[in-house]
Order: sequence, then structure tokens, then C-alpha cells
Amino acid sequence: MREELGVMRDKTHLLSLITPNSSLITKIMDQLTQQYWQTRYQQGQTGWDIGAASAPLVAYFDQLTDKNQRILIPGAGNAHEAAYLWERGFTNVTVLDIALEPLEHFKTICPDFPAERVVLGDFFAFQGQFDLIVEQTFFCSFPPLPTTRAAYAEHCAALLVPGGKLVGLWFDIPLTGDMEKRPFGGSVAEYLGYLQPYFDVKTFEKCYNSIKPRAGNELFGIFIRR
Ligand SMILES: C[S@@+](CC[C@H](N)C(=O)[O-])C[C@H]1O[C@@H](n2cnc3c(N)ncnc32)[C@H](O)[C@@H]1O
Repeated sequence: MREELGVMRDKTHLLSLITPNSSLITKIMDQLTQQYWQTRYQQGQTGWDIGAASAPLVAYFDQLTDKNQRILIPGAGNAHEAAYLWERGFTNVTVLDIALEPLEHFKTICPDFPAERVVLGDFFAFQGQFDLIVEQTFFCSFPPLPTTRAAYAEHCAALLVPGGKLVGLWFDIPLTGDMEKRPFGGSVAEYLGYLQPYFDVKTFEKCYNSIKPRAGNELFGIFIRR
């Protein structure tokens, strides 16, 4: 699933190095990020989209008994996981993405899904309180700087209630330093370095039930917010 960046080169990492705190730069970064992803969807360059809810997550979801828990799926894209949960009676799922295109598509697939829980926005600015955050090819999608990765961990923690869970899949492939090739990988040690300041690790190991094209290259994790 290593992909070309295409026309909308992701300059966000460069900008963040120059002036990380400027709100103007933040706005420009958001727009570039949004345009980049929107263009990918419009041009059908969505090699990451497996067309259905991810098997390891389905196995996890099928064990959940509380169907009213507050679930957030950031960087949800076409939100197959949300459709799966909705069809099985989960009442409180929020889908978040920075690109409009997949959200519009999701609405056509799941027309009864509450519109107010389909949110167009930047994860890093999004506010709320959740019991569960689902990770599925979101972490690997944004520029793999220590600052952005640390911000992801910090923001997931802020969005979860104490005892809440961050659950999902992380790529177990080397982070090459090539800022133009997604997915951006990492190692157990690197991921834990970001997550352990906020989370207790319940599980974080090689995924045994990945889909075939990703077999051996995914870690399944369950992290509990302290
Ligand atoms: C690799 S795609 C994965 C989509 C989906 N999870 C899947 O597996 O099909 C990454 C997704 O994250 C979204 N995204 C990227 N940066 C984001 C941000 N800062 N806030 C919210 N969504 C973002 C993109 O629009 C895209 O839909």
C-alpha cells in the first residue's frame, strides 16, 4: 500500500517545522491537508481502502456488549467500520474525517446514520469525550514527525474518558524517512514511546487475523486511558 503523494504534495511537515504555533500557518496546513485528501478521493487514489470493515476490528467489535458506548473513528474515510457498528445496533458512533468526499459517500451507504455524528474536521482540533477510539490507517496517514505523532497520542488521551480505550491497527513496517510514501510505519518501541505516557497497554502485538495483503505487517493494540 505504498503510494505516491500525487499532485498535492504534503508540505505540512515543512510548514510545521518553520512556525508550529502560528494560527495562519495552522490554517494553511489544514487546507493543504484537506485538499490533499479530498483530491485523493476525487481521483479514486484510495489504495488504503479495503472496502469493508477490517477483520481484526470486526473480531474486536463482535466482543463488545455495551452498544451505547461513545465511539470515535478519526480519519474514518469511507467509514466501513462505522457502517459495521451501525448495522449491529451501536447507537453512539462518531465518524470524523478532514475530507468531505468519503463522508458524503458514507451518508449514501448509511442513510439513517445520525447526520450530526458525521463530522467534517481536523482530528487535532476536534473536541469531545469518548469511551472508545478506533484506529484504522489514520496514524500512518499524516506526516510522521515526532511532534505530530506525540500530538496524536496526547489528543487521543484528551478525547477519552479515564478507562476509555484506544483500539486498532498500526503498521509494523519501517519508518523510512521518506516523507512522500504512505503508509508511514513505525515499530512497537516507537509507538509505545508516544502512547505509554497516557495509556496502559492491554495488548500490543503482531496481528494474527490481518487481511491477507497486510498479514505480518500490522500490530493490534488495545490501550487503556489512565
Ligand atoms: C489512509 S486514509 C484511511 C481512511 C480509512 N480509515 C480507511 O482505512 O479506509 C486516512 C484518512 O484520514 C483522513 N485524515 C487525514 N488527516 C486528517 C486529520 N488531520 N483529521 C481528520 N482526518 C484526517 C483522510 O482524509 C483519510 O480519509
